[in-house]
Amino acid sequence: MAAKPVPEAEGATPPRHVAIIMDGNGRWAKKRFLPRIAGHKQGVEAVRRISRAARTLGIEVLTLYAFSSENWRRPEEEVRDLMGLLRHFLASELDELVSEGVKLRVIGAWRKLSPDLVAMIEGAMARTANNPGPTLVIALNYGAQAELADAARALAEKARAGEIDPASIDEAAFEAALDTGDLPPLDLLIRTSGEQRLSNFLLWQAAYAEFLFVDTLWPDFDEKALAAALDQYGRRQRRFGGL
Ligand code: FPP
Repeated sequence: MAAKPVPEAEGATPPRHVAIIMDGNGRWAKKRFLPRIAGHKQGVEAVRRISRAARTLGIEVLTLYAFSSENWRRPEEEVRDLMGLLRHFLASELDELVSEGVKLRVIGAWRKLSPDLVAMIEGAMARTANNPGPTLVIALNYGAQAELADAARALAEKARAGEIDPASIDEAAFEAALDTGDLPPLDLLIRTSGEQRLSNFLLWQAAYAEFLFVDTLWPDFDEKALAAALDQYGRRQRRFGGL
């Protein structure tokens, strides 16, 4: 198979697609002797702030890890609180997303969430589907390994049905079968709160992304912090395997 064309190796171009692992809500609350939900509430404020700032800074796609397929292991009460915050976010933010021309996308196994949340997500995506963009992607009940297995299964089923030739399954075909198949490549992946791991997030998409781990807890991540992250990104030399 022919190698993928190597994009221009330059760091100064602003990232088109930024993803964030929003970590540290619990520690933010603990430091203040508050319940964890207080940290998550502040986390939602950070989501509002950063999605606005990303638009101002010209980021085309912002992907936020809101709930992983492993987060079900948390206490039932915390899961319920997080789902409640999501409902509230969707209800309160939708008008602004529509008026700002933002396209909302949700990735992950969100169809397995409670029926009312599924209906809200479907409604919100439908209402913003024809917006010009930028795109706000929320990863919900998302796990990258499941996304990869789903893509493999979908391609296998198409091959079995005779719709595609297995020999035609290359990187581009596989990528197109992912939840993010129609989005621009991931340029920058940020994780807050000092942890340095991917936690089953965008494993395929991160292949050539720049990683940035910052100590700031997510509720404290603000416009300045995002601008600083873009500045760091601008100093990186991306070579995509070239020289
Ligand atoms: C990690 O902090 C954060 C989460 C698991 C949830 C992220 C969710 C939000 C910011 C709110 C909902 C999102 C939207 C889009 C409305 P943690 O609880 O693991 O923090 P800790 O590691 O300090 O305990």
